[in-house]
Amino acid sequence: MGYMEDIEVMVDKQDLTLPPPAKEPERQYYFIGKCREIIRRKSEEAGRPLYACSVCFGCQMNARDSEKLAGILRSIGFEETASEDADFVIYNTCTVRDNANQRVFGRLGALNGYKKKNPGMKVALCGCMMQEDLVIRKLQKSYGFVDLIFGTHNLYKFAELLYRCYTETGMIVDIWEDTDKIVEDLPVERKFSFKSGVNIMFGCNNFCSYCIVPYVRGRERSRAPEEIVREVRNLAADGVKEVMLLGQNVNSYGKKQGEGFMSFPELLREVEKVEGIERIRFMTSHPKDLSDELIQVMKESKKICRHLHLPLQSGSTRILEKMNRRYTKESYLALAEKIRREIPDISITTDIIVGFPGETEKDAEDTIDVIKKVRFDNAFTFVYSKRTGTPAAAMEQAPQALVRENFDKILACVQETARERVRRFEGLTMPVLVEETNEQDSAFLTGRLSNNTVVHFPGDASLIGQIVDVTLDRCEGFYYIGKKA
Ligand code: SAH
Ligand code: SF4
Ligand code: F3S
Repeated sequence: MGYMEDIEVMVDKQDLTLPPPAKEPERQYYFIGKCREIIRRKSEEAGRPLYACSVCFGCQMNARDSEKLAGILRSIGFEETASEDADFVIYNTCTVRDNANQRVFGRLGALNGYKKKNPGMKVALCGCMMQEDLVIRKLQKSYGFVDLIFGTHNLYKFAELLYRCYTETGMIVDIWEDTDKIVEDLPVERKFSFKSGVNIMFGCNNFCSYCIVPYVRGRERSRAPEEIVREVRNLAADGVKEVMLLGQNVNSYGKKQGEGFMSFPELLREVEKVEGIERIRFMTSHPKDLSDELIQVMKESKKICRHLHLPLQSGSTRILEKMNRRYTKESYLALAEKIRREIPDISITTDIIVGFPGETEKDAEDTIDVIKKVRFDNAFTFVYSKRTGTPAAAMEQAPQALVRENFDKILACVQETARERVRRFEGLTMPVLVEETNEQDSAFLTGRLSNNTVVHFPGDASLIGQIVDVTLDRCEGFYYIGKKA
């Protein structure tokens, strides 16, 4: 029996005439059952299915959380829709930069319009933004039409909160400061049939001085290795070929658990043993904790993808120190060189922040120097965004004109070096995992090389989810145009 069928059996086992059990996940199975009764009744009254729309902002962690939300929504009887003119709308929010935050407030206004037309509609907000007091106060003051608000630590309680949402009046707000709990075995609905994220740890203890994630995601905690391997086995049995192991700093996996707990490289070896899994990815690696053992495991592996996302943030040792990143320009360069020496075909990608408080033209030159030396396959370049409550918010901010100037220079350098670097496989034939029909041209498919580079090639949708050999005819900056070999 599959994972979802097992959960189905557990939900059916709950006696809904009794009060809810205290133990998890049984308690949530009970509330899934309770919610089913409500949704069934409402749908009978309306004479049509009830529709739920789930919108996700932010990173891979949030994307995985949204699959858990979708699993519950499906399990209690909602039909999924992309339209926000629905019976239930949930935004899973991000607050890593202010623009992510603004986008949510921007879209909320439209939801209020839909709700006026459909008074039975429910609006829910969850995710990282909800862990900020200021946001909650603003919502309570000016967005009274929101029905349900919860945070990152109690997402597993979604079924129970939904039940409250349909049986109580007024705005329900349930936010936890932190948690040490990890609840397993809840429903999940994957966006892709052939690939999946797998959480290996939650939270972050690094407190980079610009970053809000440790405040909204709580302290670092690792999932038990046997739970991770069990999940990967279930995924493989369900046809998944590629897993992405997720954590804010996967290289510190298990470290807080003390002696005897599995390390990240050891975990990778275990995941590699799972039959049916053909590609293993992971995100994100903090340069300060990347071990020789990890490089060795990657080098020997047949399944771990030839890609490392290694956020640099800045190439200036002075700025890195103020960022609390705990490595230097030189140690980063040495690490990148070692990785390239051991695994020559690997792609290294990175994140860069431009305009951190006190950053000068000379600091930006250091960043450019690192870009030229490492030659990243891709770099996500962000303008520094001041996050309330982080140490950097209290530092003197860099002048806007200088930030713009540095940003343009750094971006130009990234584009130039990446263009040169990415094209190194031009003319070769390489395996591509086909992910979807091309958004612009439906005669084309889009997939990825092991090293994560995107490839477009003409082909039929029946190839989606398969690994096929593609000849990489032409490199167009960050991606390839090819043909099936
Ligand atoms: N845990 C990951 C990063 C998660 S956040 C790591 O340590 O690498 C993803 C990226 O957002 C970061 O790498 C950083 O480049 C960017 N970022 C985080 N906080 C930011 C801020 N305040 N302003 C601009 N970019 C930020
Ligand atoms: Fe943020 Fe740093 Fe943690 Fe990454 S490692 S999530 S940048 S605090
Ligand atoms: Fe955003 Fe939260 Fe991820 S703040 S980047 S969604 S951990």
